Amino acid sequence: MIVLLLFCFGFNAALAVLAPVVTLNDGNKMPIFALGTGRGTAKETESLEDVKQAVIWAIEAGYRHIDTASIYGDEEQVGQGIAEAIAKGLVTRQEMFVTTKLWSDRHARDQVVPALKESLKRLGLDYVDLYLIHFPSAVDDEGKPLNISYLETWKGMEDAKRQNLTKSIGISNFNAAQVYDFLDDEHGIRPAVNEVEVNPTHAQEVLISHCINLGIAVMGYSPFGYMVSRKSANAPPPRFDDPLITELAAKYKKTPAQIVLNWLYSRDVIPVAKSVNKKRIAENIDIFDFRLNDEEIAAIAKFDKNLRVIDFKDWKGYPYYPFDY
Ligand SMILES: NC(=O)c1ccc[n+]([C@@H]2O[C@H](COP(=O)([O-])OP(=O)(O)OC[C@H]3O[C@@H](n4cnc5c(N)ncnc54)[C@H](OP(=O)(O)O)[C@@H]3O)[C@@H](O)[C@H]2O)c1
Repeated sequence: MIVLLLFCFGFNAALAVLAPVVTLNDGNKMPIFALGTGRGTAKETESLEDVKQAVIWAIEAGYRHIDTASIYGDEEQVGQGIAEAIAKGLVTRQEMFVTTKLWSDRHARDQVVPALKESLKRLGLDYVDLYLIHFPSAVDDEGKPLNISYLETWKGMEDAKRQNLTKSIGISNFNAAQVYDFLDDEHGIRPAVNEVEVNPTHAQEVLISHCINLGIAVMGYSPFGYMVSRKSANAPPPRFDDPLITELAAKYKKTPAQIVLNWLYSRDVIPVAKSVNKKRIAENIDIFDFRLNDEEIAAIAKFDKNLRVIDFKDWKGYPYYPFDY
């Protein structure tokens, strides 16, 4: 019987790990683990074709949430990977959760819906599940700063939701003070999500608790931080072989990478982890059979140095730059 089931559903489906889902503040449900497809940590040898393959492997491994953005230049390959998985019968569109993001050069209200329509065309989809303002600051076509309030941009995001081009809308890289700007009812729909950097050297304790208390889910990007970054040579610990991380890995019979990802999950943060490696893709999502306890969460948080891997430093001084405090 078991052999028959394996045969019917395929070997990968039998091993797939489905992430739990969270209900967002607008009632939509989101799988609490996403495949990252950003190219910031990609090796020079990696191609856009690798992104498509990674999406297919991820869906086989049980991922139902894929994170992309117009600025990554890979929406087409993400869409192709999803289409191929649907064609193979691995998933339906309704089972998938696709997040993409509005880049800063389209922040005027009337630019938002056209920008999303362009993303949808590249993705080959009728709607996305979540559309995020990628960064609070606006720029022109040449990357020069523009003084457009993100509350104006948000009106365009609400237009996109009203037109059913996206099920949920949210923000990314917004600091705690900026998040409060959205809470006044006069500003309509509250963001469902804030996607921000979360890793051991950037624990984000204050921002995460602010968002969660306000009913805004937190997606944590670059979860491995300096453990994998190109800038890691002189960066503070931890590394994957840090004694605390390896001790917890031994205790829970997991890998050091799974301990770090679980540290986000145990703090109610939705990890967004990038990999184009089949084995690591499957490894990364396999974290839902345990939770770190409060002492273990606090022990890893001691690595916090408020040190970002992603700092958009060239934009320091632009209107609405979020990382000054
Ligand atoms: N909203 C934003 O502004 C923003 C900014 C940055 C990132 N993001 C999103 O977050 C995603 C993840 O962030 P990221 O790519 O910066 O960093 P990351 O996911 O923390 O790290 C990715 C790197 O770790 C390696 N890796 C993956 N799994 C591993 C494992 N189990 N053991 C050891 N190494 C492993 C990957 O290599 P292999 O591929 O070879 O496995 C890759 O080099 C991005 O892809 C993007 O979708 C969003």
